[in-house]
Amino acid sequence: MRDLLAPKAVAQTALAAHQLRFEIDGETKVDLPYLALEDEGPTMILGANGAGKSLTLRLLHGLLTPARGRVSTPATRQAMVFQKPVLLRRSVLANMDYALRAAGVSRAKRRAVALDFLNEAGLAGKARQAARTLSGGEQQRLALVRALATDPEILFLDEPTSSLDPSATQAIETILLRASAQGTRIVMVTHDLGQARRLGREILFLHHGKLVCQQPADTFFKAPDHPAAAGFLRGDLPL
Ligand SMILES: Nc1ncnc2c1ncn2[C@@H]1O[C@H](COP(=O)(O)OP(=O)(O)OP(=O)(O)O)[C@@H](O)[C@H]1O
Ligand SMILES: [Mg+2]
Repeated sequence: MRDLLAPKAVAQTALAAHQLRFEIDGETKVDLPYLALEDEGPTMILGANGAGKSLTLRLLHGLLTPARGRVSTPATRQAMVFQKPVLLRRSVLANMDYALRAAGVSRAKRRAVALDFLNEAGLAGKARQAARTLSGGEQQRLALVRALATDPEILFLDEPTSSLDPSATQAIETILLRASAQGTRIVMVTHDLGQARRLGREILFLHHGKLVCQQPADTFFKAPDHPAAAGFLRGDLPL
């Protein structure tokens, strides 16, 4: 009786995919009958090269049109950070300003907000520098805080630290953990298992375009639901 009366924590769905399929030249590359991402993250997406991680991320973000199926989400603001940062040929500050303007932040507020985020990324001292002359790690930090400055409800990231050194990677992870704690739903592809353990609350494992594991991170690393994931964790070459 008590249980019936106790308020239930209702898991909210941040994003769901239904019967989602993506094809290239008639060949199915992603096949997701059903996927629900609950409100709480981060979700880390793992899988071998060519498993369909990047395509899946782009489909979920709406950058690709599926052959069939659909993605539903109550989130109105989403952003994506790519493996190679895409920055404007302008100053660091102008890159921030452009994103903030697009997000509808008033001119009066933009400068202060931009500097706040640059500060968080350790880039306030480089505000006037041309963005494309930043180092790789600095560019990726800029791409990340530029995405966060638009206050996305969901943030997709495709291997954002794959070419970064350990300290630059750590800087990115710190920013991501803070954003996650502040309520940004993070969905991220990585090849770095340590990073997946450090950041992930939930793991998705893709195999030949199909979702074969969706598990809490600690469970996944102890006992993955699919032999392909077990092999991947052991470092076997994928079949
Ligand atoms: N534009 C395209 N034209 C043809 N095939 C493509 C295209 N984009 C992706 N593919 C193929 O779809 C499959 C999935 O690609 P995807 O980029 O999603 O893999 P991934 O899991 O992100 O791999 P990686 O770990 O190497 O980044 C691969 O076999 C890839 O060759
Ligand atoms: Mg990829």
